[in-house]
Order: sequence, then structure tokens, then C-alpha cells
Amino acid sequence: MADVAYVICALNDIQSQRARGFDLAVIDESGEEKNFPIVVVRWGKQVFGYVNSCPHHGNRLDWEREQYLDPTGLRLMCGKHGALFELGTGRCSSGPCRNEHLTPVQLEVIDGDICILGVTLAEDEDEDDESGVEA
Ligand code: FES
Repeated sequence: MADVAYVICALNDIQSQRARGFDLAVIDESGEEKNFPIVVVRWGKQVFGYVNSCPHHGNRLDWEREQYLDPTGLRLMCGKHGALFELGTGRCSSGPCRNEHLTPVQLEVIDGDICILGVTLAEDEDEDDESGVEA
């Protein structure tokens, strides 16, 4: 299977030292479409991506809408029971799932866009870029 890179958003759509969630949909090995929520952290020119699922109970990390970081902004945080995760490795450094890891997502910055690799995204009918903005 060819390694396709899908554009998630522009690098500058996420401020440095901020995180943003994307509710993607992928096609799995059996051809089924399934939800694939991810969180992307930008740190300068670097980006880190993880599946938005806590290794403790599988909850989403965002305890409030678009809140992924702890108050210091230096770690990802699961709002359910307060697990903290290192930004660069996804390792839980504190909390009920200490030393477990978030599942990494393969990201690359290509021509100023943050792209996801290693998955097959389900295409929208109109193939419009969804901004994720809700009314
Ligand atoms: S579900 Fe994330 S810390 Fe418990």
C-alpha cells in the first residue's frame, strides 16, 4: 500500500506550544470506516500526534472542549483522572496509568502543512477541508 500523506491543517493553524484535536475517520484493514480522534501538539517547528484515547480507561483526553494540556502547558493531560503525558513521547509520567503510553500518530510537516501518514483516511463526499469549527 502506498504511503499517502493527508493534510490535516497548516502548521500555522496551531500556535506553538498549543494542542488541537481532530476527529478523523480512517478505513481499517477490513475496509470498515472507524472514528480516529487525534490530538496534535505543536512545539516550534515540531509536531507530535497521538490518538485521543487515554491508556487508562480509553477516554478522550479533552476534559473541556479543546483542553488537552495541563495548566503548565508542558504536558498533555487526561481530564478524567488527571494522567499527565510527556509531549514528545506520550509516556504517562504521573497518574493512574503511569509509564503507559498514548498511541503515537505518524505526522510530518510537508510544505508548511501538518500531514498524517500510515493510515488511510475515509474521504468526505465533497472532500472539503473540515475546520472543525462548531457553531
Ligand atoms: S481515563 Fe485518563 S486518567 Fe483515567
